[in-house]
Amino acid sequence: MRAMVCDSFGPPENLVLREMPGPVPAAGQVLIEVHAVGVNFTDVLSMGGRSQLKRSLPFTPGVEAAGVVMAVGPGVRTVKPGQRVLGTRTDGTYAEEVVFSAEEVFVIPDTMDMPTAATFYVVAMTADYSINQRAKLSPGENLLVLGAGGGAGLAAVEIGKAQGARVVAAASSGQKLELALSRGADAAVLYPPGPLDLAEQKALAAEFLQHAQRDKSDGLSIGDISTVHDSRGYHVIFDGVGGTYTEPALRSLGWQGRYLAVGFAAGVPNVSLGPLLFKDANIMGIQPGDDNVRLPARSPERMAKFYQWFRRGLLRPQITRTFPMEEAAGVLRLMADRKISGRVVLITSRAQA
Ligand SMILES: NC(=O)c1ccc[n+]([C@@H]2O[C@H](COP(=O)([O-])OP(=O)(O)OC[C@H]3O[C@@H](n4cnc5c(N)ncnc54)[C@H](OP(=O)(O)O)[C@@H]3O)[C@@H](O)[C@H]2O)c1
Repeated sequence: MRAMVCDSFGPPENLVLREMPGPVPAAGQVLIEVHAVGVNFTDVLSMGGRSQLKRSLPFTPGVEAAGVVMAVGPGVRTVKPGQRVLGTRTDGTYAEEVVFSAEEVFVIPDTMDMPTAATFYVVAMTADYSINQRAKLSPGENLLVLGAGGGAGLAAVEIGKAQGARVVAAASSGQKLELALSRGADAAVLYPPGPLDLAEQKALAAEFLQHAQRDKSDGLSIGDISTVHDSRGYHVIFDGVGGTYTEPALRSLGWQGRYLAVGFAAGVPNVSLGPLLFKDANIMGIQPGDDNVRLPARSPERMAKFYQWFRRGLLRPQITRTFPMEEAAGVLRLMADRKISGRVVLITSRAQA
């Protein structure tokens, strides 16, 4: 079988196609013939040696895939050969055959195609964990999503709407915003490509606030920082972008707002805590590392909820392009250069066979 292999940390171009021995499932493991692979920003980070999870070289990137069960190891009763499944791992899915722990595998609905299954779980889990478990978003609250045209961003828009929130999408291109609006966002903010200087950050904060639709009470306020309970601003902000976009986001939080630090695609932010103090606000780091959250088969209730949202059309990965797996390096280059809207999927030769 063939896999994409990274021999040295660096740019996406370091990824090469290699013939490898097929893996054999041990006890508790499932061998999947991979048809489709979801591409995530974390793959760019792991290739660059910038992921929090340290990999030893050589390694194969990729955290999710969908395909058909080829074989199961001793003790596996949850799935059987021939079934269509999705799976997640911490790496290794850019390959034609992949072994997963049975807890990382979940049967997919008949109506879900392989590219959709390959991009379905990781961003949905991340957005659901952030928005519901951490921020506890309530119906009617204002949610701002940065990077709203990307994978996790679009899932946050969809899940925010599924929860009955008013969702404002922010992104760097009209195409990305169109996608977010097509998935239910109520308003859109186009931001500059960045990095933003101070004046641009202030202008963006003002624009975010214009769309927050949370009345500002008269009276107590210190300049732009309101200290009253009904202050204008967002109840929840989902930020997978970071960099110089985070300060304007923090400044547009409302009273007791919850800021979700999901990722730093534009760099680790360097921010002032002033706006948080005056608004009794919270910064929440997002790390759904607990296996009960991270692994699909360990949280069947969560998967049942996601599948229900899928059937109702509320949660649908927006696949804008597919590529042969052999072109993975070029795809990661597009992602690193911010040129991808929605989701892209790698298709293996096994899907064509
Ligand atoms: N905490 C967790 O457990 C967890 C799990 C999954 C993902 N994440 C994080 O969530 C974020 C989104 O991940 P994803 O897989 O959905 O990726 P994605 O589809 O590539 O989305 C990332 C978005 O970040 C924005 N961006 C801003 N500056 C960028 C830059 N210099 N390079 C690339 N993108 C840039 C882009 O939107 P604009 O061009 O519109 O700004 C892009 O759409 C990433 O930061 C990722 O690390 C975290």
